[in-house]
Amino acid sequence: MEKLQAALARAREKRDNDGHPIRKATSRVPSRNIRNSVQADINTDLWDNIPMFEPQEKKMHQSRIYAGEVSPEAKHFDILRTKLLLEMRRNDWTRIAITSATPGCGKTTTACNLITGFGRQPEEYGMLFDMDFRRPAVSKAFGAAPAASLEDVFLGEVGFANQALRMHPNTSVSMTTRAVADPARVILHSQTAETLDQVQNDYRPDLMLFDMPPVLVSDETRGFLKLVDAVLIVAGAESSTVSQVDEVEREVAQYSDVAGIILNKCRFMEDDYGYAY
Ligand SMILES: Nc1ncnc2c1ncn2[C@@H]1O[C@H](COP(=O)(O)OP(=O)(O)OP(=O)(O)O)[C@@H](O)[C@H]1O
Ligand SMILES: [Mg+2]
Repeated sequence: MEKLQAALARAREKRDNDGHPIRKATSRVPSRNIRNSVQADINTDLWDNIPMFEPQEKKMHQSRIYAGEVSPEAKHFDILRTKLLLEMRRNDWTRIAITSATPGCGKTTTACNLITGFGRQPEEYGMLFDMDFRRPAVSKAFGAAPAASLEDVFLGEVGFANQALRMHPNTSVSMTTRAVADPARVILHSQTAETLDQVQNDYRPDLMLFDMPPVLVSDETRGFLKLVDAVLIVAGAESSTVSQVDEVEREVAQYSDVAGIILNKCRFMEDDYGYAY
């Protein structure tokens, strides 16, 4: 891990010297945090209208989702959640995208654990959106099958509250249940941005978390990043190269703030689980 950090530090220094510095998180004036300082104005009736679902514990554990209760496995996600929340408050962020350079680094695992852990903080309201329309995986991870898919909400065919499901009183999950042939068409459509604004305005969540496709294999994530406040980049310990992570960080910084880089799948940590942030 130190090697990766040192290599990234060298890459950043080179980038700064080349005149392409990464924007610091605090330098950005947030424009989308509708809830802002009026934290008490949650419309709980509106939240209560989103149907509840019971995730299947066996499926969750198969997908390494452990953050539902205090446990050694959940520890790293709890730390990540707390750090992220602190950064979100400090920077007035609400919308956080999770992405990576290449597939399979652990984006969905991280996103699902974060929203599951959020359920243990009843005073915070969080939403997860499965924006990976090529390889949707959130519904499988929770063992849930909503009648409609998130795409239908963005196309205006189904209302948000008729598609999303609540896992806890304070968390909702908008699942994608079928792959889409042309994801960019959905993700980059103006109606998608308008729908998200409307949802944020109505429900006023503290966190809107977006599980995205990887940046380097398709175009739609880049296009979506301008709609979020900050981005978590997941690096796979034995699959992501320093230059890939550096490239993603550079790309992300063109459109949004970098909330942090998570090194996932480290084999040689004391408890063998492997999250660093
Ligand atoms: N820390 C970890 N240790 C071991 N295996 C992990 C870890 N995190 C995730 N995995 C496993 O790696 C695989 C890929 O994880 P996941 O689906 O979360 O990645 P992803 O980045 O969302 O992939 P995709 O790019 O396909 O969406 C899954 O089988 C998951 O269970
Ligand atoms: Mg995924």
